[in-house]
Amino acid sequence: MMKKIYDTAVKARCHIQVSLERVFKCGVGICAACVIGPYLVCHDGPVFSEVELSAMPEFGHMRRDLSGKKVPLTAGH
Ligand code: FES
Repeated sequence: MMKKIYDTAVKARCHIQVSLERVFKCGVGICAACVIGPYLVCHDGPVFSEVELSAMPEFGHMRRDLSGKKVPLTAGH
């Protein structure tokens, strides 16, 4: 749903900010459990602009399970 809102905002040339969720292990930018694209959600976010979201190829396509493994959003989520 967040990806659809992002796509709609970009199409309408609106600036948006979204708050992303990831499983945090260290919470201080050391373990990379919360990485998405070039960003660490715990350190660089959790709020990201549409410009930052555009640099995240996983956004709207992949999530991470509790072990940190990438899982396609279509796989039971
Ligand atoms: S939770 Fe460890 S780097 Fe973000």
